[in-house]
Amino acid sequence: MKFEGSHILSVNQFDRSAIEQVFQVANQMVPYAKRQKRTKVLDGAIMGNLFFEPSTRTRVSFGTAFNLLGGEVRETTGMESSALAKGESLFDTARVLSGYSDIIAMRHPQNGSVAEFAEGSRVPVINGGDGSNEHPTQALLDLYTIEKEINYHGGSLDGLHIAMIGDLKFGRTVHSLSKLLSLYKNIRFTLISPKELAMPDSVLSVIENAGHRLTITDQLEGNMDADICYQTRIQEERFPSQEEANQYRGKFRLNQQIYTKHFQSKTVIMHPLPRDSRAEANELDNDLNQNPNLAIFRQTDNGVLVRMALFALTLGVENLVSQYDCDVHWYSNKSK
Ligand code: CP
Repeated sequence: MKFEGSHILSVNQFDRSAIEQVFQVANQMVPYAKRQKRTKVLDGAIMGNLFFEPSTRTRVSFGTAFNLLGGEVRETTGMESSALAKGESLFDTARVLSGYSDIIAMRHPQNGSVAEFAEGSRVPVINGGDGSNEHPTQALLDLYTIEKEINYHGGSLDGLHIAMIGDLKFGRTVHSLSKLLSLYKNIRFTLISPKELAMPDSVLSVIENAGHRLTITDQLEGNMDADICYQTRIQEERFPSQEEANQYRGKFRLNQQIYTKHFQSKTVIMHPLPRDSRAEANELDNDLNQNPNLAIFRQTDNGVLVRMALFALTLGVENLVSQYDCDVHWYSNKSK
């Protein structure tokens, strides 16, 4: 895969070697993310951070990642604060904003919108989530986290057993992650969701065509023997009405008691976040916060590393980062 100058729109662009390249560059970013070092490799570069749908971690970690490489960030949030609300097309918006930026990260509620925007862009565009379709950078950071967690337990990605739980229909992170995992050998997928929120056929066919083991169920039962438990949120914003979403909220909760009943003592607990902590949902209980296998905040930290790697690769500076190191003069508790 050629990274320099390319859009990152879908996990379909990646093979194992491209993933490995991203992970190697991400590993090199650790001292910068920990503030042990600074680099100005992207000094003078501007990233347009365009989020037309709510986001906390993807938006802020894209901005943080670009700043940590020495670049500057210009941001717009919400559809109503952009000229899209006045009927401007994605193509025109892209022509304009790519004149102000060297690279763009974008989230938008419609499937395929980021690819449509990229057609009008004169600079690389990175998909920060398009509707229920894809979330490629989340999938890469999830896979990076899974590899690190599994290596810690003496395992590898090949042969992994992952249980995915919740809204597998609208949850774009599980779509993208399933496709990436399908590139590895002998993966076992256990997909647990209400029948109405099952994984789309387009994703199931990728899993099946790659010859992986697939179990589909609407019950959390028995001991799962899973290496990873990947919990998701009911994506209420994609349902026709709140009432419809409410039917499924809280259907598959995970707390310490349920975890102990259904998973191994070493099963890693993941969630793309945000977790819905309202009482009626409470899909990932706070009583798991002290469980050492809860990897949700390691996922969010890893998001900065992976997004730094994607910026460095896409802008062609992955081998120059340490040449532009400069001193850190201030106190940071991150470097501990
Ligand atoms: N995981 C994720 O996409 O989180 P945000 O919606 O906060 O960006």
